[in-house]
Amino acid sequence: MQTFDVVVIGAGAAGMMCAAEAGKRGRSVLIVEHAASPGEKIRISGGGRCNFTNLHSSPKNFLSQNPHFCISALSRYTQRGFIAMVERHGIAWHEKTLGQLFCDGSAKQIIDMMVGEMKHHGAELRLSTRVESIEKMDGGFALALNDGAVRTKSLVVASGGKSIPKMGASGFGYDVAARFGLRIIETRPALVPLTFDQNTLARLAPLSGVAVDAVVSSGKTKFSEAMLFTHRGLSGPAILQISSYWREGEEIAISMLPETDMFAALRQARAENGRQAAQTALAAFLPKKLAQTIAEQANAAGNLADFSDKALRKLEAAVNGWRVKPAGSEGYRTAEVTLGGVDTHDLDSKTMEAKSVPGLYFIGEVVDVTGWLGGYNFQWAWSSGWCAGQAA
Ligand code: FDA
Repeated sequence: MQTFDVVVIGAGAAGMMCAAEAGKRGRSVLIVEHAASPGEKIRISGGGRCNFTNLHSSPKNFLSQNPHFCISALSRYTQRGFIAMVERHGIAWHEKTLGQLFCDGSAKQIIDMMVGEMKHHGAELRLSTRVESIEKMDGGFALALNDGAVRTKSLVVASGGKSIPKMGASGFGYDVAARFGLRIIETRPALVPLTFDQNTLARLAPLSGVAVDAVVSSGKTKFSEAMLFTHRGLSGPAILQISSYWREGEEIAISMLPETDMFAALRQARAENGRQAAQTALAAFLPKKLAQTIAEQANAAGNLADFSDKALRKLEAAVNGWRVKPAGSEGYRTAEVTLGGVDTHDLDSKTMEAKSVPGLYFIGEVVDVTGWLGGYNFQWAWSSGWCAGQAA
């Protein structure tokens, strides 16, 4: 039976960072991946360019039942640490918007960099390998893999969340945590498009493909980014962001022209050209199809001159105070991440080690720390992976 100091399960962002760091410290490391290639989510991320971190990453960009948990890891290994690594490897990058950093070339450069780091520090990567069982034993763990048994002092679970099951995502990490007595915060799809019921869809069907910059809010949380009407409901960055906060049965509020005093603008349009239709006045500010649908939904037919202030207020509300109740979300099929996961109360925030099971670590998305859209989730993977790599 082969023996290692560290076995990492999952060669995603978190697992590869951990394996490289543990190898750097002279540990013998095996990283086991059930897919045929490492870093598949990195490969498809950021439209193929990988939004690998965010210049402004800070604990306030993360959701968790235990919001302070991420502070230690994010400050021990920061976005600057990762940017320095990217630059050391000669990978060109740019800021797209809102501090989001992308490769100029391809996400594959980030995968190659991580695989290169692991190799350089002597970590063994075993692909297309399944973990069949895990047993706790004196001084470590015994694992049955489909190609043989291994022993390890430290076991790091970096198997990710449930999003995109088509790519092999599963509940594996949560099952391991539960088996060892760790608590799980209920999981749900996040950074995911929201869907409408059939009635709302029928009313808004013509808008599929229309995009606007909007402020979208759920309770006290709001995001100001692009929003897209789809044939199922709503998507785009503003909606993906709010999906992490929205719960079934709740409304979201949408302002499609947040910078514009719509009532004043409509009054002015009425004074200047009372013979224009409401939808024509709205189309000066919004995409034509959207202006038309809003006017129809607000029953705003006829000339603006015939509209009372009350009617203009109603139009204003339809543009800047639209409240809609999504029926649900598109689920794990398209969600970028999983909210919830291994309860951080059961982990050491400095090392990611399970408090009740020495030698067992959880890192990355499987942990109940979820970032906003914009490179934050990879930063959590790098930071938590780095921390476990210093300890395992
Ligand atoms: P990750 O899922 O990356 O890796 C887990 C690995 O474990 C996988 O390789 C999996 O195959 C393997 N595994 C699972 N079970 C196993 C088992 N039983 N045995 C062996 N191996 C197993 N974030 C961001 O910051 N910027 C971005 O641009 C994007 N873009 C993006 C696009 C899309 C389409 C998605 C779905 C997601 C993103 N994300 C993102 C989110 C980001 O991809 C995610 O948060 C990280 O990949 C999480 O890293 P982990 O290493 O924790 O899991």
